[in-house]
Amino acid sequence: MREFSARYAGGIPPWQIDRPQPEVLRLIRQGKFQSPVLDLGCGTGDNAIALASSGYRVVAMDPIPEALRRAREKASRLSLDPSPEFRKGNALSLDKSGLKVATVLDSAVFHIFSDGDQERYAREVGSVLASGGRLHLLSFSERETRQPGPRRLTLEQISRPFQAGWVREEAVRCRYEDLVRADGAHAWRITFRKA
Ligand SMILES: C[S@@+](CC[C@H](N)C(=O)[O-])C[C@H]1O[C@@H](n2cnc3c(N)ncnc32)[C@H](O)[C@@H]1O
Repeated sequence: MREFSARYAGGIPPWQIDRPQPEVLRLIRQGKFQSPVLDLGCGTGDNAIALASSGYRVVAMDPIPEALRRAREKASRLSLDPSPEFRKGNALSLDKSGLKVATVLDSAVFHIFSDGDQERYAREVGSVLASGGRLHLLSFSERETRQPGPRRLTLEQISRPFQAGWVREEAVRCRYEDLVRADGAHAWRITFRKA
């Protein structure tokens, strides 16, 4: 987490594109979200703001105060109703959050974790997601070659922690837009439904 704190303190991190990810907009257009939505590792808030602008109730969580400050500032300029609730939190300890949500969005967070933490992540997400609820996950894929950056994961690696109690509904190769390259990073967009 210290690494992320330093990235925000250092200025604009490569993932802060100040607009929602095209894949998140695609999911919104397809009606693939249900309220309440939890945006895990929301960063500076653009995906959460896009969801709120489309009428969803959103809790958006990040452990880094500077990310949340930027997100709140953006949202306050828009007078959204409802506005996302930006709160400090850790994807690896959601059990005490008191949340129960219908959809979880993970835009480029899962791939920062070690194998062990990915197992823990799946349990924690499962603890706040209602039965039948969906997790939409965007992760760098094994096709991404540029360095440095987060882990690059195959579909099998991403799916491993979601074997028991989850159904993989969709897996699509896509791009994760960032400030590094005009066409973004090779990525997976995957939807898991909690059984
Ligand atoms: C690559 S950024 C993606 C931000 C945002 N979701 C987006 O797509 O613009 C990863 C985010 O995960 C956050 N993060 C780091 N560790 C986390 C954790 N344990 N739980 C939740 N979020 C975490 C970071 O602070 C950072 O904002």
